[in-house]
Amino acid sequence: MKAIEVNNLSFAYHKQVVLDSVSFSTDLKDFLAIIGPNGGGKSTLVKLILGLLTPQKGSIKIFGKSPKQSAHLLAYVPQHVHSNSDFPITVLEVVLMGRLNQNWLGRYTKKDYESAYEALRKVGMDKLANAKLSRLSGGQRQRVFIARALCMNAKILLLDEPTASIDIDGQRQIFELLHQLNSHMGIVVVSHDINVVLGYANKIAHINRKLYMHEAPCKTTKEAILSTLNSAHGHLCPVELVHAQTCNQNHEEEL
Ligand SMILES: Nc1ncnc2c1ncn2[C@@H]1O[C@H](COP(=O)(O)OP(=O)(O)OP(=O)(O)O)[C@@H](O)[C@H]1O
Ligand SMILES: [Mg+2]
Repeated sequence: MKAIEVNNLSFAYHKQVVLDSVSFSTDLKDFLAIIGPNGGGKSTLVKLILGLLTPQKGSIKIFGKSPKQSAHLLAYVPQHVHSNSDFPITVLEVVLMGRLNQNWLGRYTKKDYESAYEALRKVGMDKLANAKLSRLSGGQRQRVFIARALCMNAKILLLDEPTASIDIDGQRQIFELLHQLNSHMGIVVVSHDINVVLGYANKIAHINRKLYMHEAPCKTTKEAILSTLNSAHGHLCPVELVHAQTCNQNHEEEL
């Protein structure tokens, strides 16, 4: 059975079509990277997979069921993880939130704490369990949110630009961590940096209203991928980074 199966999916906000006849599937052990320009529809696709939005056309199945029925199998790290410096929450408290849906009594059990510490160990943050979240760097904070997602015992981890505003070493460390986690769960990650994702993903989906899937990419196929992307969109994007603003600007200039 496929982990994620998307068939002929179209989605519009009001009358603005954001995703047009998108189809793809992933297997349980896939590491799928979603790349594409700003406004291309990446976050919208992630929200549809999570069941937070409903498609106007087409279908999404997660392990053969609707996204809402499979919600407990999906863990999500959102695009914007802000920290309110006035809010004195600790690393451990954030991670424990991942246990809330498994904990009907509203009080954390010994098992919840064990699970939280195990998740923190997996992301290399157990020594900072009692630190205030507001004191952490962007990369450390992102690890904490990954640990919270791990606590949910999900089968697929979805991350929306987990490395935005993290330097290149920090980015690679997060992707190394995702690579390790991929040994026992599926990974779906939105990213802007094709160089980074090429080293880790076994599938790359490029989204700009339409979706173009590249299976089993590797560094040597980078030029081929970029050439497909460029011809697919009829203009040249910057080679090193499919960053989007630049691509969008190109679009606007052409119109
Ligand atoms: N809640 C919303 N209501 C109306 N339009 C929206 C909403 N969310 C997103 N959009 C629009 O849908 C399009 C796709 O947005 P989306 O957030 O999916 O893009 P993205 O690929 O994730 O971009 P980014 O790289 O900037 O995160 C954009 O034009 C955006 O303005
Ligand atoms: Mg987005």
